[in-house]
Amino acid sequence: MSGEAAARAGTNIALVKYWGKRDAALNLPATGSLSLTLAGLGTETRVRFSRGLPGDRVFIDGLAADVGFADRVCRFLDLVRARAGLSLPAEVHTSSSVPIAAGLASSASGFAALALAATRAAGLELAPTELSALARRGSGSAARSIFGGFAEMAPGVRPDGADAHARQIMGPDDWDVRLVVAITAIGPKAVGSTEAMNHTARTSPYYAPWIAATERDLMEARVALLGRDLTVLGPIAERSALRMHACALAADPPVLYWTGVTIEAVRAVLALRRERNIAAYFTIDAGPHVKVLCAAADAPVVEAALRAVPGVRDTMVAAPGPGVEPLH
Ligand code: PMV
Repeated sequence: MSGEAAARAGTNIALVKYWGKRDAALNLPATGSLSLTLAGLGTETRVRFSRGLPGDRVFIDGLAADVGFADRVCRFLDLVRARAGLSLPAEVHTSSSVPIAAGLASSASGFAALALAATRAAGLELAPTELSALARRGSGSAARSIFGGFAEMAPGVRPDGADAHARQIMGPDDWDVRLVVAITAIGPKAVGSTEAMNHTARTSPYYAPWIAATERDLMEARVALLGRDLTVLGPIAERSALRMHACALAADPPVLYWTGVTIEAVRAVLALRRERNIAAYFTIDAGPHVKVLCAAADAPVVEAALRAVPGVRDTMVAAPGPGVEPLH
């Protein structure tokens, strides 16, 4: 038997953040989260299961992947093999338009694309919610990249995690917003998200209040989103990001992702609102970069303001994008 399939997925940025797990082994989130899947920034992955291969092989942009990354991919392939009753080795080729070296999250689009490509190559046909729960095993945020536009991840209540998956709240064409990304540093992030969130949960006195606050953020964000109200959704996204980082900063030892340029980029966003009345709102993930949500019409002004911040190395503007899709 030899099965081959390819898929493409866009990365996503959380507006209500996920930071903490209720089960590490099954990668079950402690809370829900809400995100925007992006067009043009994502991952393409091809998977081929074949008896003829000596073992699993993983390539990024045509070059053999480092051991850590390859191990993560192989563990994920094991889940797919177990589900399909398959014991064949696989070859995986992946390439990302998200600049991995810049430390922008690529695991979200990476594991979403891998989930679709690997299951199809293994002869499985999963419903989107099943695919989302599977992608979650690779990376929590990947569960959301199965869906286009705005997606909400449910933490679920079942011990087996079958109900811990995302669903779409609003399609990519339903609201003309943009996410402007300011790259503030080059190089991979200092501490991986899994390690950092487990450390935060263990040692931050703010972890319990953070978890408690997220429920309200999600409820309010859902309403603001459906009302397409940027001036309500934006402040919720900012406070979710700031509280996530406050919680991580209060860990022992602290988890600090920001640089001076991060703060200056945040200040530039605040100035856009204060001085030019532009509805632009920032969010920050497990890294130093700043991502700014705004109306499509305001994106050029927001991008220019971020470009003018000393130390910002690059900027990108992304529109809402589709969910994971097969490639032929
Ligand atoms: O899914 P992970 O392990 O890459 O963690 C994602 C963590 C954040 O990006 C900081 C927040 C989020 O909800 O995407």
